Amino acid sequence: MKAVIKGIGHYVPERVVTNQDLEKLMDTNDAWIQERTGIEERRHVGRNGSETTSILGFKAAEKAIENAKIDKNEIDFIIFATLSPDLYFPGGGVLLQNYLELDTIGALDVRNQCSGFIYALSTANAFIKSGMYKNILVVGAENHSFGLDMTTRGRGVSVIFGDGAGAVILGRSDDESRGILSCNMHSEGKYAEELMMGFPGTKYGWVDLMLNEDFEPDYDKIYPYMNGNFVFKHAVTRFPEAILEAFEDAGESIENLKMLIPHQANLRISQFIQRQMGLRDDQVFNNIMKYGNTTAASIPIALSEAISQGKIEQGDLISLAAFGSGFTWGSVLLRY
Ligand code: COA
Repeated sequence: MKAVIKGIGHYVPERVVTNQDLEKLMDTNDAWIQERTGIEERRHVGRNGSETTSILGFKAAEKAIENAKIDKNEIDFIIFATLSPDLYFPGGGVLLQNYLELDTIGALDVRNQCSGFIYALSTANAFIKSGMYKNILVVGAENHSFGLDMTTRGRGVSVIFGDGAGAVILGRSDDESRGILSCNMHSEGKYAEELMMGFPGTKYGWVDLMLNEDFEPDYDKIYPYMNGNFVFKHAVTRFPEAILEAFEDAGESIENLKMLIPHQANLRISQFIQRQMGLRDDQVFNNIMKYGNTTAASIPIALSEAISQGKIEQGDLISLAAFGSGFTWGSVLLRY
């Protein structure tokens, strides 16, 4: 028995924020952003709170359910990945269960940032293969724009990230020719603070922040902090490692790869991996130019777009891979 993607969908907020729009808010420019990251525009919900992370996830989930042609009540478990939850606790999974008006099924939250969707999909795969669940709703959703420093001080991070959500229905199938072939998940916690946000959290005195009005929190801990060069160097090593590991575990040859969908961290990272692995342009899907880095949402959004553009067909060998904060990284190899 295998776990197959029965349905997929994505949703991005309507508001397009171009690099030129950012030039009005901070000292940056289109050339710098495009040269370093490939990003031309991204979507922002903004700070009015109308579309929370779980609402974005809900909109993507509705499309995935429709695409799977199942009754939503056939879903027997939810896995929700995000680093930008509506609430500090509880996580987004239960909020999604409520919006979808599902029965009292379980809802698990995954906090693995850019690798969140890979961790969530791998976990769902294990549940399906164990026989515990039949149809798992796996969602990656992010509302980054609420928490980015949109001034010059935050430009090294804030130009990169965008909002959006993607969802899949992973279900049981007896067709052995399709489905997830192998998964891997990795971490290296000694680099946890090379890409992180400290607040709210117990390490950097958020209680002081709440109770003491004179307390001056460290800027780097309130907004996301990223050691960009360091992250870049690790990403370009870990991506290929994880991808090749999945091929080896599955006993498949990379020659048969139809499409690599890398987490959309940075177009330069994707191009580096493509060159390193000797892949053709048509074997690597990128849409970071339009959406920026949407963290846990980037892989399902990209997969959903690649399928809807007819670039992936049933039976194609697809590699999904991610690297990000933690550090965490991993890969999933599947026959769509
Ligand atoms: N616009 C204009 N200038 C900017 C800027 C912006 N948005 N952000 C930073 N700069 C400036 C810096 O202040 C620095 O100026 P200085 O030389 O006068 O000090 C200069 O540009 C170079 O900064 P640096 O951080 O060294 O640039 P970089 O070439 O490493 O590119 C990243 C920065 C973030 C694009 C790059 O490191 C990267 O993509 N890293 C990986 C990030 C990633 O993928 N994160 C997601 C993880 S999944």
